Amino acid sequence: MQDFIENIPKAELHVHLEGTLEPELSFRLAQKNAIKMPYTTPEELISAYDFTDLPSFLAIYYAGMDVLRTEQDFYDLTWSYLNKARSQNILYAELFFDPQAHTSRGVEFKTVITGIHHAQRDAEEKLGIKSQLILCFLRDMSAESAMEHLMYAEPYLDWIVGVGLDSDEKDNPPLKFADVFAKAKTFGLKLTMHCDVNQNNTHDHIAQCLDDIQVDRIDHGVNSLEKAALWQTIKTKKLGLTVCPVSNRFVVQSLTSKEIRQMLDNQMLVTINSDDPAYFRAYLNENFIELQSEGDFSESDIITLVTNAFKVAWLPEQEKGFYLDKVQHYVESYSA
Ligand code: HPA
Ligand code: ZN
Repeated sequence: MQDFIENIPKAELHVHLEGTLEPELSFRLAQKNAIKMPYTTPEELISAYDFTDLPSFLAIYYAGMDVLRTEQDFYDLTWSYLNKARSQNILYAELFFDPQAHTSRGVEFKTVITGIHHAQRDAEEKLGIKSQLILCFLRDMSAESAMEHLMYAEPYLDWIVGVGLDSDEKDNPPLKFADVFAKAKTFGLKLTMHCDVNQNNTHDHIAQCLDDIQVDRIDHGVNSLEKAALWQTIKTKKLGLTVCPVSNRFVVQSLTSKEIRQMLDNQMLVTINSDDPAYFRAYLNENFIELQSEGDFSESDIITLVTNAFKVAWLPEQEKGFYLDKVQHYVESYSA
């Protein structure tokens, strides 16, 4: 089963680029940029990853980003992730980035997006992994700041496929950003938002995503299962849910395998993702392997989860077909 998971061609739709920053790269960038690290080794840094909920994770995640200063730093970050992803047989990835977490430290939007884009371009050419970029707004910052950053992105719309909403959900509902997402839609961008697991007012937030914002996808969204009206709408609209098992274990002490099973039983388009793999110490294959083991998922379940990701990817139908054929071909040759 592990071999089957490792080798099946996959897509990843929920990964924060800043969450792929490995301690070794942090140390290298800190040294280059003459930044003093509060730890002496990468191992010591990892042992300080002590999070039990979303806010305690976010504090460590934002502190970690401080080493990212130059265009080359963002290139190196993105290149490293795409190499790792390709080594896990990920053929296509949609990458979140958090520009406000950089502009607030004095790093220009242009610096961030240019470094990322050039690494994406090189990885597609040299490694054969395609990726697209999703600009995430930090929901604990103002709607004005989000709108300002959408305007920074306007000259780069060819480099962005959609917008998302992340960071601390408490008291920051989707409706706070209704105007920003409406404007993004007029730019031709796809819309997604985090509805993290077990947050306050989670059902209202999911309902706002569906009814008011009219998202094209939901990130996490596990609590939709608790209200038939929510999960049935998600199913009817054929919206993808990007669930992140190991990330869930850190914040809710469960891989949510029962919930993922229930989504499959409900024929919802659930997908498996890594979220912040350098922090949670698990990339996409490790997420699948741990989930399979805990939830006793069959090969057929794994195929459905992998197939769902290509189905709900923000790609033209023809390109989805290209990847789905590859999955089909893999499955046939594996069983032969
Ligand atoms: N939730 C909210 N914000 C985030 C996350 C997450 O899982 N990862 C990075 N920023
Ligand atoms: Zn996330």
